Amino acid sequence: MQTANTLDVLRTQVAKLRAGGETLALVPTMGALHEGHLTLVRRAREMCDHVAASIFVNPTQFAPSEDLDAYPRQLEEDAAMLESEGCALLWAPDTEVMYPDGFVTSISVSGVSEGLCGASRPGHFDGVATVVCKLFNQVRPTHAFFGEKDFQQLAVIRAMARDLDLTAPRVHSIIGVPTVREADGLAMSSRNRYLSEEHRTAAATLPREMKEAIARIKDGQEAAPTLAALEDALLGAGFSSIDYAVLADAASLAPLDTLGNSPARLLVAARIGGTRLIDNMAVEQDR
Ligand code: PAF
Repeated sequence: MQTANTLDVLRTQVAKLRAGGETLALVPTMGALHEGHLTLVRRAREMCDHVAASIFVNPTQFAPSEDLDAYPRQLEEDAAMLESEGCALLWAPDTEVMYPDGFVTSISVSGVSEGLCGASRPGHFDGVATVVCKLFNQVRPTHAFFGEKDFQQLAVIRAMARDLDLTAPRVHSIIGVPTVREADGLAMSSRNRYLSEEHRTAAATLPREMKEAIARIKDGQEAAPTLAALEDALLGAGFSSIDYAVLADAASLAPLDTLGNSPARLLVAARIGGTRLIDNMAVEQDR
């Protein structure tokens, strides 16, 4: 695996990989890799000739009050994992390369970025959209892979890529990969490592109660009382606060009162022991 830290080296390496017209996947990450990221790399390898991964802890998607400095950094360990999964190229720029002096541009995607995490983390999705647009322009992949765990992020990136004409011929496809879960159902996340043993055990209440709520909604119950019961169960299990628990249209992310005919999603963000966990699951009427 080649590692590039500058744009010149990146472009030379990408040109070599694509010299015969090969497809190139990009798996953007902030490092602290786990099985969820490696699943993205494996999916990318199945679909593309070569895989490039990026590791960049993007400061512009963290609010001043958030955990940028505490965010885990383990570049060597991550690089070894990517290499053993067959990644051909690691793009690991530092902040000065990504945001040189005088950088003044920000991409803002309205609509899908506004509620949910957009409401509790103002500016977060501007930071994500801007850095992902830069990553697409830097690497010029034919395909890009993102986890469905960050469902709203995926919707924001799809909208940004569509509106800025970054899809064909630049990035032909943006591929969402289903969430990878621990044995007890907790969605894998780099943030799970912040949980104490006690909070880690209690955190599994989140996917369990979400499944319970989905079963009730599919049974015809209205979203509001079902989601209120979900919030109570989480608070009872040791979560300290709930940022949101919402039934939403899976495409527009607009909140829904009841399940209709189009695909819906249950999305939750909740805090436990100072760690903010997010999760989402499909809610579809059985046919
Ligand atoms: O999901 C992430 O790890 C980040 O938000 C991303 C897409 C790499 C942008 O920094």
